[in-house]
Amino acid sequence: MTNIHERHQPIGVFDSGIGGLTVANAILKHLPKEEIIYFGDTFHLPYGDKSADAIRYYSLKIVKFLLEKNCKMIVIACNSASSAAYEVLLDFFKGQALFVNVVDPLVEAVTQKQYKHVGVIATKATIRSGIYESKLQNAQPGLKVNSMATPLLVPIIEEGYFNDNISEAVIERYLSHKSFKGIEALLLACTHYPLIRKNIENYFLGKVKVFDSTDVVAEVVREKLFKNDLLNNQKRNAHHFYVSDYTKSFEETTRIFYQEKIQLEHCSIW
Ligand code: DGL
Repeated sequence: MTNIHERHQPIGVFDSGIGGLTVANAILKHLPKEEIIYFGDTFHLPYGDKSADAIRYYSLKIVKFLLEKNCKMIVIACNSASSAAYEVLLDFFKGQALFVNVVDPLVEAVTQKQYKHVGVIATKATIRSGIYESKLQNAQPGLKVNSMATPLLVPIIEEGYFNDNISEAVIERYLSHKSFKGIEALLLACTHYPLIRKNIENYFLGKVKVFDSTDVVAEVVREKLFKNDLLNNQKRNAHHFYVSDYTKSFEETTRIFYQEKIQLEHCSIW
């Protein structure tokens, strides 16, 4: 890194909306001394239906905002943004902060297990990018990967329909597809999906190992900060949770993604 960073600086975390709070939550569970500046681009969600160019443009602007807030690290807590924008962000903001995406930690965790056949579910943008197939097969040549866009899951989760017959019916509709027959593991490649992880494990009767991007990402955050001597060991400032469009309903929905009650702050960067 060319910029000098200090341990007490915050970690910037962003997503298209509030789903990335599952990642923020995991980071704070592993690293309670860290301060989080969260940005949810509720003005533009869902990213899953946007073009890669649009997602890259939004991401660039959000990271600029987070760097102005003095973040030492940026966590792209959105698979759609990680697949479309990670390389561009690394290049554009070279040396200005550490970057963590949510794709690589998941790929690493899964390929360590040396499965023969895995499935991936995600938004349309993530699936269209082909990033999981290419990274999984690069890391483990010969691995059979079947992917599917599962766009109904995000609105179902945001409406709080998990662990009930609505989510069960949709999960069954998607996961009963023949391409998932015989998979040994399923990657939940969207930061909303940890909330329906139990539903999915139940659907497979515990016979398919399910991976999501919470703990594995938090672990990579810890490792990167540690390696760069940037783990906070001082008293931290208060977290902030910004959204680009505020509604009461977003604030209420945060409760399902984050263990504590949080107050969203409207911040218009567009
Ligand atoms: N949380 C986003 C992801 O991980 C999905 C939500 C959206 O489509 O905006 O891809």
